[in-house]
Amino acid sequence: MVVVLLAANEERGAALRAFARGADGAAVRRGLTAERFHGREGQVVTVTIAGARRRLLCVVGLGDAAALDVDAWRRAAGRARQAAERHGAARVAIAVDERASSIEHIVALAEGFDLAGYRFDKYKSDAEHGALVGELTLLTPTPFPAADVARRLGGVATAVTAVSTVRDLVNEPAAVKTPTFIAATAERLAADAGVEIEIWDRARIERERLAGLLAVARGSNEEPRFIRMRWRGPGARRRVALVGKGITFDSGGLSLKPAKSMETMKTDMAGGAAVIATMVAAGRMQLAIDVDGFVPATENLPGGKAQKPGDVIRFRNGKSVEVLNTDAEGRLILADALALAAADKPDLIVDLATLTGACIVALGPQVAGIYGNEQAVVDRLVTLGRETGEPLWQLPLVPEYRDDIKSPVADLKNIGGGNAGSITAALFLQEFVAGRPWVHMDIAGPAFTDKELPYAPKGGTGFGVRILLRYLAELAATPPDVPPRAAASPARPRRKPPLAAKRR
Ligand code: BES
Ligand code: MN
Ligand code: ZN
Repeated sequence: MVVVLLAANEERGAALRAFARGADGAAVRRGLTAERFHGREGQVVTVTIAGARRRLLCVVGLGDAAALDVDAWRRAAGRARQAAERHGAARVAIAVDERASSIEHIVALAEGFDLAGYRFDKYKSDAEHGALVGELTLLTPTPFPAADVARRLGGVATAVTAVSTVRDLVNEPAAVKTPTFIAATAERLAADAGVEIEIWDRARIERERLAGLLAVARGSNEEPRFIRMRWRGPGARRRVALVGKGITFDSGGLSLKPAKSMETMKTDMAGGAAVIATMVAAGRMQLAIDVDGFVPATENLPGGKAQKPGDVIRFRNGKSVEVLNTDAEGRLILADALALAAADKPDLIVDLATLTGACIVALGPQVAGIYGNEQAVVDRLVTLGRETGEPLWQLPLVPEYRDDIKSPVADLKNIGGGNAGSITAALFLQEFVAGRPWVHMDIAGPAFTDKELPYAPKGGTGFGVRILLRYLAELAATPPDVPPRAAASPARPRRKPPLAAKRR
């Protein structure tokens, strides 16, 4: 199948004539007219061509030519992949014109195409194995240096593998992906990538006084696990901590969710899976940065020993929390992990969590909320998210709303007053980062999709992984103006350089 990408309102004759002349050209024009093809984003027309060796010509709409960003190419390649699979094409060639002039475009096309090839069909009896597209050719007007292309495509492959790992873990039923299963998977992947890993069992979790994780795990017969990963990059000069929510199923606990809301709650470990996959990819890519991963994993169930509304937990950093709603469990297990991460004094903490339904109310299913106490870092991540097609929108840490999480019996309570639920959840988390540079992404919406997206089928999306990988790679490549780790003198505290890496 040959794919031609066309924007709205632009001259299309030349692009099409290159692949379909004479009677074929007429057939393509008829097809486009019949389908009212105007190059709008998402329009896809596939025409069978009599005279050509490649039998199918697929025309994909790019949308407004003036508004083309890199993700438009990623989406177009994803749609081309979907069309190819619908038509059973084994090989695809995408014609790339001079609008896609940089290697960034090539990378985006390859990434969109690869991401769109993801399937989760292990539980389908009639899965069409072997029907998948096997080969992509990009027809570019000018050649790119082969070494550059090979290196960048290697990066694409690693990122796509990481995204697929997250999608697999999110899509796996909760009966299978217990906390012990997640931990064992992380252990296997880490070993392959040269990433250190420790799995803490209940006894160790008790010794470490991870009070929130223990409290949430009480309602379940499944053993909790705390996953601690370490990547030490060669020549690393910065250290980032990644924290991910690992609720393998969220029933709400005694504050039980309605049945409908529970249907997708196997997704509640998407942040944890993103952290695991990012750590593994950092190892595979040999990133010159130190990364520490923290994933608390448990089910949230209403068993006979479950925590009850009104219970008070005391955390390892000394703070006490009144649990008024057992369905606000994510912040409880993240509190432990954030406190633990902050104790190591990393340059930056980033957490990812499917934390609140309120964030979906605010931003809808395709945009994640981002919060942070270092504006330059938030700005950079928002920009990267635009480039990777993982949109982030900043929400404010309104200091006045802190009153909403004050408890009459403890230092804090685990729910706010009903308004601004995503913000009060973020303010709760902030209590546990000890003032360290910190960013929180509420990925409750985009971690999962209930409709097919241009390069993600229904189910887990792997949201966040590509942003994190780009950001870590960027930090690794940007020298901070402090001496490298080995030469640093710990005696005198120094001002940290801004963490937003410079654009290359
Ligand atoms: N895991 C949910 C948040 C969620 C909701 C993720 C929908 C994905 C889709 C979280 O643990 C939760 O239940 N949050 C509550 C908090 C409330 C009780 C303060 C919520 O958002 O309703
Ligand atoms: Mn919940
Ligand atoms: Zn949850």
